[in-house]
Amino acid sequence: MSNRVPSRVRIYEVGPRDGLQNESRLLPAAEKIAVLNLLSRSGLDAIEVTSFVNPKWIPQLADAEEVASKIDRVPGVTYSCLVPNRQGLERALAAGMREVAVFLSASETHNKKNVNKTITETLAAFEEVVTPASEQGVRVRAYVSTVYGCPYEGKVDPQKVVALTEELLRRGVYQISLGDTIGVATPLQVKDLLERVLKVAPLEALAMHFHDTRGTALANVFAGLELGIATVDSAIGGLGGCPYAPGAAGNLATEDLLYMLHGMGIETGVVLEAIIDCSIKMAALVGHELPSKMLRAAIGTRSRGK
Ligand code: HMG
Ligand code: MG
Repeated sequence: MSNRVPSRVRIYEVGPRDGLQNESRLLPAAEKIAVLNLLSRSGLDAIEVTSFVNPKWIPQLADAEEVASKIDRVPGVTYSCLVPNRQGLERALAAGMREVAVFLSASETHNKKNVNKTITETLAAFEEVVTPASEQGVRVRAYVSTVYGCPYEGKVDPQKVVALTEELLRRGVYQISLGDTIGVATPLQVKDLLERVLKVAPLEALAMHFHDTRGTALANVFAGLELGIATVDSAIGGLGGCPYAPGAAGNLATEDLLYMLHGMGIETGVVLEAIIDCSIKMAALVGHELPSKMLRAAIGTRSRGK
């Protein structure tokens, strides 16, 4: 294996946010809190809890205050949430959040549909978030969506992603998660983009975020691991999608990622069986099967063992 492959990977669990924002059943806050409390005890050290966005845009997460203020906060676990603007930051701080994430797209059309602003206006709105958050000791992460392709514009110029990464770092975010929002990337494309971005960003400032729409997410993760990137976003069960990206399927499933990483001897600190338990609970709550392959295999093994 390439000597740049990290020996430990940080998993950033986004299921409660990126997953649930796309579900047709609106889960009651108590059900979300129950899953979040299980996730907190699975060994994960980074969990995205919810979004403080306009509830008319994302009704699935309209209970952000209740969820964020009532979850058990396990020491050592970082809890984060999406905030698009100052109003979102104020709501998040009032609910006890100590890490937040801003988000924008590398393509204008997706950005406009997602946040009703141009990319330039969106960056300007971050000014209202990053400085006040940092002044209060709250860390800010950033997502750049559609970095490998846009549902409306098709190809995205990798240099746009490089320029946005540089700009976001200059504005003071600690990490940038590069999102394959609609799951179109393939490994050599990932390698090419990440090599370009690594010319302007240190390794620890980058995270990978793949949706598994076409089954390439794990191969794409491996391409990034070979470059030394050691933070990967994923969602339990492979929940997820973006309501403003037609055709976007679920995120890379946390248990599929764990199986691959642990099988290669890469540590995560996360207990695979505990994540399987969370996914089984989540599938019952959302009322449909979840796409993770590891989940299906584990359910099969458990039922044969009975
Ligand atoms: P807007 O309508 O242009 O906002 O929405 P506005 O500033 O003109 O305000 C309009 C109304 O929204 C006002 O209320 C504000 O108070 C309210 P009204 O006077 O009409 O009653 N408002 C808010 N309410 C609560 N919380 C707030 C907030 N801000 C304004 N923070 C806005 C602009 C950005 C708010 C809106 O477009 C929005 O909420 N968008 C959210 C979209 C979203 O969450 N998309 C999914 C997440 S991104 C994603 O999934 C991709 C990712 O996973 C990475 C990847 O896969 O690539 C991260
Ligand atoms: Mg996403």
